[in-house]
Amino acid sequence: MKNVKEIHDKIKKLLYSHTGITLTENKDIMISNRIEKLKRNCKYSGEIEELLKLIENGQYVTEFINSFTTNKTHFFREDFHFIDLRDRVLPEFAKNNQTINMYCSASSTGEEPYSMAMTVEKVREDLNSRFNATIIATDIDTNVLQYAANGIYRYSKSSKEFPEWIKPQKYFKRRIEKNLAGEDILIKANDNLKRMISFQVMNLNNPSYPFQKNQFDVIFCRNVLIYFSTEDQNAILKKLFKHLKIGGTLYLGHSENPQDLINYVKRIGQNIFIKEKEIV
Ligand SMILES: C[S@@+](CC[C@H](N)C(=O)[O-])C[C@H]1O[C@@H](n2cnc3c(N)ncnc32)[C@H](O)[C@@H]1O
Repeated sequence: MKNVKEIHDKIKKLLYSHTGITLTENKDIMISNRIEKLKRNCKYSGEIEELLKLIENGQYVTEFINSFTTNKTHFFREDFHFIDLRDRVLPEFAKNNQTINMYCSASSTGEEPYSMAMTVEKVREDLNSRFNATIIATDIDTNVLQYAANGIYRYSKSSKEFPEWIKPQKYFKRRIEKNLAGEDILIKANDNLKRMISFQVMNLNNPSYPFQKNQFDVIFCRNVLIYFSTEDQNAILKKLFKHLKIGGTLYLGHSENPQDLINYVKRIGQNIFIKEKEIV
């Protein structure tokens, strides 16, 4: 490899132009690892400089994006948001037998939207209601979306991913898979969960989003803004905000905040915001 700094700078530029993701200075090891992943994804064994030229000319762009996104997630991550959804938001819709429309804006491998769907199922059971719910789940990474749409996960009894108020056996079918290392328990989301969610590819850095004004009652935008500059975080939040109803709920990740929306929302809990008015 020739000039590492030049290569990393070119990657940062390309990544920003395709996704809006800003890689900070101290990401050199991560970038080197992702270069290897990129080459594997493209089945490319030549020099990285040559591969970057191809990407600049529009080839391997999907592989490039998929190699450089960070997809860490798990079921019921920051579970207080699902508790708020269960106790405050969903019962209103159940009581009035009203449809709730939710949006999960960076759904990664699907654990977040499936957790939303399980929370809906839990409220339906507890309140004996069949209120309708829709979840649109988007991500820029086509690999994770495919994984999410399959809805099959490795389950470890020790993982403590599911809170005590959720019984995963109600929502997933179990299958044992034998392999060289022994066996794995696989769990597959049932049709009730799957029917609720529609997975779509979408770039949050696009100038606008393909949704209607005030389409959603709830928006999850968690642990994705951290990959963007402050300016771009604000731009994304403002675009998302248009699609949230007045009175709707915005859930942000633990180190994210509503920034320029601050005068238009009411904070009601740990990174839980209610939309009070439109931005004028
Ligand atoms: C760390 S995961 C967070 C997943 C989930 N929201 C959670 O909190 O567990 C971040 C996700 O954001 C997605 N992402 C990054 N840049 C994006 C963009 N410009 N548009 C849409 N999704 C993006 C990545 O592909 C990744 O799956």
